[in-house]
Amino acid sequence: PRDVGIKAIEIYFPAQYVEQTELEQFDGVSAGKYTIGLGQCRMGFCNDREDINSLCLTVAHRLMDRYDIKPEDIGRLEVGTETIIDKSKSIKSVLMQLFEPYDCTDVEGADTTNACYGGTAALLNAVSWIESSAWDGRLALVVAGDNAVYSPGSARPTGGAGAVAMLIGPDAPLIIDRGVRASCMKHVYDFYKPNLKSEYPTVDGKLSVYCYLNALDTCYQTYRKKVKNKYNCGVSLNSFDAFLFHSPYCKLVQKSFARLAFIDFLNTSKKEVSEKYPELAQFHDIKVEDTYFNKDIEKVFLNLSKPEFLQKTQPSLMIANQVGNMYTPSVYTGLASLLINKPIKELAGTKVGVFSYGSGLCSTMYSLTITKECNEKSDLMKIVSSLSYIKKELDARQKISPEDYTKVLEWREQNCHTVPFSPQSSIKNMFPGSYYLVQVDEKYRRTYNRV
Ligand code: ACO
Repeated sequence: PRDVGIKAIEIYFPAQYVEQTELEQFDGVSAGKYTIGLGQCRMGFCNDREDINSLCLTVAHRLMDRYDIKPEDIGRLEVGTETIIDKSKSIKSVLMQLFEPYDCTDVEGADTTNACYGGTAALLNAVSWIESSAWDGRLALVVAGDNAVYSPGSARPTGGAGAVAMLIGPDAPLIIDRGVRASCMKHVYDFYKPNLKSEYPTVDGKLSVYCYLNALDTCYQTYRKKVKNKYNCGVSLNSFDAFLFHSPYCKLVQKSFARLAFIDFLNTSKKEVSEKYPELAQFHDIKVEDTYFNKDIEKVFLNLSKPEFLQKTQPSLMIANQVGNMYTPSVYTGLASLLINKPIKELAGTKVGVFSYGSGLCSTMYSLTITKECNEKSDLMKIVSSLSYIKKELDARQKISPEDYTKVLEWREQNCHTVPFSPQSSIKNMFPGSYYLVQVDEKYRRTYNRV
């Protein structure tokens, strides 16, 4: 099959948020720490009506409705998540409720977990299935979702919640480039969830930022090598029209873009550096390992790369800025934001870099080629226009005070794994088509309804 890639994309986020300026005050930190320092404006969160099953049911059902996909059209269903409510039963099996009533049970796939990387792992599995001898001509559906919550403290403002569903198949308008994927996988305790009684991770914030940037460097250098081997051409930021990053918080994404500009600089010959950037020559011989927390280098390359960042990456940060880190869906909310915020004529025929990172750690850099076809009837136009609900839903959300947000999280803490459980929150403000938790019975079985 030719041009395997993303044929449809749907994003879902909860209908309530907390304002980061109010959270700064509530937490007693200096004004600007979360909004300027981390680059976050609002943070979406789930009350007790939503869990990982409902998030995934909602986004999968909405995609199938919006694109008129029939259950029999799907031959593989993959779920990526790090929100674990059952050590055995997959969320994929919960999603089979959307297929079973139509006698469709011949659907491959199960869940994949590694922090924020699970969505990308699921996507790559789906692509591999379509490119394999097992493919039967049907489409694959990839779902990724998470409820990202942190214990009180410096990580709390970097939470978020939501889900993405993507339809994967041949002749796609967003084509995943073949033979040039680059990964960096290592064993490290930067962010992990060893306490199965809690929704909160154990985080070493500084280490997690170092691991993210180090994985980014490594993936980029490997991607460059693979392109060189395959096509005998060089790669720099100039090779990309847009670059998407997993977004723990938007400021780290801007630093990541600057990091790639710095790597480009390191890949420039000494001669060229002395001609083009004589004032930066001092940074050329520095050992990469010593650069991660070097504020001078960070500042210089943030400034140098800013115009390009504003053009190539800023448009992809809309949902990340408004909802926060959704974990597995994060980099795909970047794709949706890019498609919404750039005119279709500027998207058609372009190259998009993607960096997906999950602590622990798994990371991959790959690229997408956007089809040139962008007329009214094109698949690209269909995807772009189908995403027009996002801005409306972001604005239609209900603002919740930090006090009430904190109460919601405390209530979730108290009731995590408590049975039987009946949610208390109203369903009145949920978006149309959202699934909500009705109850968890004494045998831990969960039931859902749809708004
Ligand atoms: N105005 C403007 N900027 C401010 C202000 C202010 N009033 N106050 C602080 N800042 C800046 C700081 O200078 C700092 O900027 P810098 O990063 O450029 O140095 C930034 O705001 C953050 O402040 P810190 O003191 O560094 O923040 P802290 O250490 O309290 O927490 C952290 C940040 C570690 C990222 C924390 O939020 C965290 O642990 N998050 C979860 C882990 C995470 O997201 N890791 C990323 C990769 S892994 C993943 O995806 C989960």
